[in-house]
Amino acid sequence: MQTDIQIEPAVIVVFGAGGDLTQRKLIPALFSLFIEGWLPEQFLIIGLDRVQMNDQAFRQHLYEGVDRYSRQGKVNTQDWDRFASHLTYTVADFTNPKAFDLLSEQIAAQEETWGQLSNQIFYLATPPTMMEPIARLLHHTGLSDNRERARIVFEKPFGHDLESARALNNTLTNFFFAETQIYRIDHYLGKETVQNILALRFANALFEPVWDRRYIDHVQITVAETVGVEHRGGYYDQAGALRDMIQNHLLQVLCLIAMEPPVSFGADEIRNKKVDLLRAIRTIPCDSMDWSAVRGQYGEGQIDGKAVPAYRHEPGVSADSNTETFAALRLCIDNWRWQNVPFYLRTGKRLPIRASEVSVVFRPVPHQSFPRSALEGWQPNRLVVHVQPDEGLSLRVQAKQPGLRMRLNPADMQFRYQDVFPSPSPEAYETLLLDILLGDATLFMRADQIEAAWQIVDPVLEAWADNPPADFPNYSAGSWGPEAAEALLARDGRHWLAPIVEEKRGKHV
Ligand code: BG6
Repeated sequence: MQTDIQIEPAVIVVFGAGGDLTQRKLIPALFSLFIEGWLPEQFLIIGLDRVQMNDQAFRQHLYEGVDRYSRQGKVNTQDWDRFASHLTYTVADFTNPKAFDLLSEQIAAQEETWGQLSNQIFYLATPPTMMEPIARLLHHTGLSDNRERARIVFEKPFGHDLESARALNNTLTNFFFAETQIYRIDHYLGKETVQNILALRFANALFEPVWDRRYIDHVQITVAETVGVEHRGGYYDQAGALRDMIQNHLLQVLCLIAMEPPVSFGADEIRNKKVDLLRAIRTIPCDSMDWSAVRGQYGEGQIDGKAVPAYRHEPGVSADSNTETFAALRLCIDNWRWQNVPFYLRTGKRLPIRASEVSVVFRPVPHQSFPRSALEGWQPNRLVVHVQPDEGLSLRVQAKQPGLRMRLNPADMQFRYQDVFPSPSPEAYETLLLDILLGDATLFMRADQIEAAWQIVDPVLEAWADNPPADFPNYSAGSWGPEAAEALLARDGRHWLAPIVEEKRGKHV
C-alpha cells in the first residue's frame, strides 16, 4: 500500500535494542509500517545496547521477533531483506560520551549519503534509571539541539512517584529537551478501541446529552489479565499494579470517558482537557483509604485448567514480597458533570480471563410503569467499550421477551470491529511510532498529565507503604481478586459487572 502522507527521512535510534520491547513490539510495528508504505524511502534504524552482537546477529534476532509477533503473520523473506537493509547495530555503553559522539557521526554520515537532513527519533527502550543519563548525553553531544527534528521517546514507567516524575520532567525540560520534543508513551492510547472513545463521544450527537450525573449511575473500568509477571518479575516487584497499570493506562481511559468535549483535535487541546479532568479527581484522604482503595496479591491457583505458581514464587520476585498484583480504586470527580458518580477502576494479574472493558452504567428509569412480574430480568442500560478482546461496543437495552406475557429482558446491540471493518487494526505501537515520525503528540503524555496522574495515586502508594498488608497472598490465581474488592462496591450497593466476554462464556463473577 502506498500512502499519500509525506514523511521526512528519519533515523530511529533505539537504546536498549537487545531487549524484549524492541523484539516484540517496536520492530514488528516498524516492519508493518514499512510493508504498508508508511516509512519514508530514506530511513535507518540504529540499535544500541551493551549486548555483543554484529549487524547480522541483530537482524536475525529481530527477524525471529517479527516472525513470531507481527500481526502480518510469517515474514515474507523478500520483504524482510528489503527492511533489514535499513537495520544496523552498535555495541554501546549508554554512560560513555564516546558512544554518543560515534552516534552523532553516524547520523551525519547517513545524512550526507542521503543528501538530506533527517528527523531523529531517540527511543529509550531502557530501564527507567537510564532515562536521565541518556538524555543528558544526547544533549551534551548536541543531538537534542534541533527542536524541530530531534525527538525523544520515553517508555513507561515515567518516574516512581510524583516527586521522581516531577524531578525527571524538570531536568529534561530545563536542560536537555523542549517539551515539544518529548514523547511519553502510554501504549493504551494507541489502541483503536481507546481512540474510538473520542469518536463515540464527540462524533455522535446521541450520547453527550445523557453523559453526566443525571443519567449515569456509575462507571466501571476493568483491565483483567490472565498472565502473571512473566519474565519481568524484577521490574514488577518494584512497581506493582497501581504504578504499572492504574497510574497510566486506566487513568488515561478514564480521561477519555470523562473529559469535557474538546474544541479541536489539536494535541494541546486534547491534553488540556485531560489534565483538567485529572485535576478534578478528588484526592483520596488517608483516613478513608480502606473505603476507596483495595490491593491484592495472587497465591497459587489455576488459569485455564493449568496450575500456576503464587506471585511470591515467580522468578525475580522476592519470597516475602508485599507488592500488589491487583488494585482497585473508587474515584470521585469534583466537577458539575460527575458530582456523585463514582468511577471504579480495577486491574489485576492472574485473573480468570483477559478482558479490558469500560462499562458506563445508566440510572434506572425514573418511574417503572411495568408490572413487577415483567421486571424479573431487568438490568440498567449499560454502554460497554470492549477495549480487548472482541473489540467493539455494546449497548444493553431492555426488550420485550417474545411471548404472550409482558416480560422484559436485557438485549445487547453490538458493534464488533471485525464485522464492520474487515481490514485488521494496526497495533498500538504502529500508530504511536507513525505519530512520532509525523511529529503529532496528541496521543502522548505531557509533563503535567503525568504529574497529575501521580498526584492521584501517590496518597494510596504512601498509605500502602506505611501499612504493609498482613494478608498477602489474598486471592487465588484464576479468581477475580480479593474479597475486599467486592466490598468496595457493595458498600455503595453495587457490584462488579462480569465482562461481557465472560458472560458470553456462561461464567459469572
Ligand atoms: C504494560 C504493563 O504497560 O501493559 C504490563 O507494564 C501489562 O504489566 C501490559 O501486561 C498490558 O498491555 P496490553 O496491551 O496487553 O493490555
